[in-house]
Amino acid sequence: MLENKNILVGITGGIAAYKICTLIRMYRKAGANVRVVLTPNALNFVTKLTLQTLSNNEVYVENFEINDYKPEHIALTESDIFVIAPASANTVSKIANGICDNLLLSTACAFSKPILLAPAMNTNMWNNPFVQENLAKLKKTGYHILEPDSGYLACGTSGVGRMREVEEIFDKTVEILSPAKLKGKKILISAGGTREKIDPVRYITNSSSGKMGIALADAAYALGADVTLVSTFPVDKNYQNIVAQTAQEMEKVVKERTPFQDCVIMAAAVSDYRVANYSEQKIKKTSEDGITLELVKNPDILKEISGTKNVKIVGFCAESENLLENAKTKIQNKGCDLIIANDISRKDIGFDSNENEVYIINKELEVKHLEKDTKQNIAKRILEEIFE
Ligand code: C5P
Repeated sequence: MLENKNILVGITGGIAAYKICTLIRMYRKAGANVRVVLTPNALNFVTKLTLQTLSNNEVYVENFEINDYKPEHIALTESDIFVIAPASANTVSKIANGICDNLLLSTACAFSKPILLAPAMNTNMWNNPFVQENLAKLKKTGYHILEPDSGYLACGTSGVGRMREVEEIFDKTVEILSPAKLKGKKILISAGGTREKIDPVRYITNSSSGKMGIALADAAYALGADVTLVSTFPVDKNYQNIVAQTAQEMEKVVKERTPFQDCVIMAAAVSDYRVANYSEQKIKKTSEDGITLELVKNPDILKEISGTKNVKIVGFCAESENLLENAKTKIQNKGCDLIIANDISRKDIGFDSNENEVYIINKELEVKHLEKDTKQNIAKRILEEIFE
């Protein structure tokens, strides 16, 4: 997701500094080149050696230690983003006042690309009016600020001040660096395996983890789309999430909203059948011979919404045999614009896996193969294909 991006990470002197080791690994795993600059105080919490090893680059603390023809703070500004985490009250306030008394601050002062700050501090420091005033100044000037969470703090108290989770810092970085190619587009994505209720405690479901649908929603959001994720379980993200557990609940939500979208992607594994007679009471173990559940057909949501005017409708096709043949029949039967086919007989991809390998089939029955990759990368490729 961050292929060829140059990320400059700034660490200040706070206990959350140790969490940045994980963040650096995440950036590198996503393809970014990472350089790290620390304030001298940060060295009390993490070592240069750790950061050098994780970033696979030189780590900078003092001015005048970069082997480059340019002054240090200028050399470091040649990055796509400067992520300062944790950002102490001291550093936040100094940046807001143009103070440059260490390398991290001089770099921030000279940085012309986006700067993302993840403040972390004691609650009283966070509430201090001067710190708040400085933060307000930075926000107004276009700095991206991930405001701290409330929770247990290292100083032994509870309150606002805990640095946001590194996953959130990572997501925000991706969001800032992604060109808003899908800005203005409304996309609805369904995810997860539906739960067809038998009684108040039991249900019929399938092995879908919802990971592919969430990866699509994340990728669409990162590209600037207005995303609605309709999932069978709650998902805590920055885009709209509606929970619909059964096929009928999902049908209602999806059908209501489809006419207002530019694209609907049905990545959910919707159960083809539901229990005919839902029991209001928990079914008792009274029969020695077993019981029979009668199932009735569920609505085919994809088929129902296919053909909606000016809305691109995309379906998924999970098959354990004759993948392409079945996918071609399915796109003709359902009438959608694209079908994404994946082979669920393979253990290394598809259901519950972090990776996938898919075939994209269009109405003309042309097939495009996307080789095995992370679900995140596959999601990006699928979106490119839909909106190319
Ligand atoms: O018919 P089948 O389940 O093989 O088709 C899969 C595609 O159809 C998926 O996109 C799935 O979300 C959608 N579907 C649906 N309603 C159903 C069953 C599947 O929308 N009842």
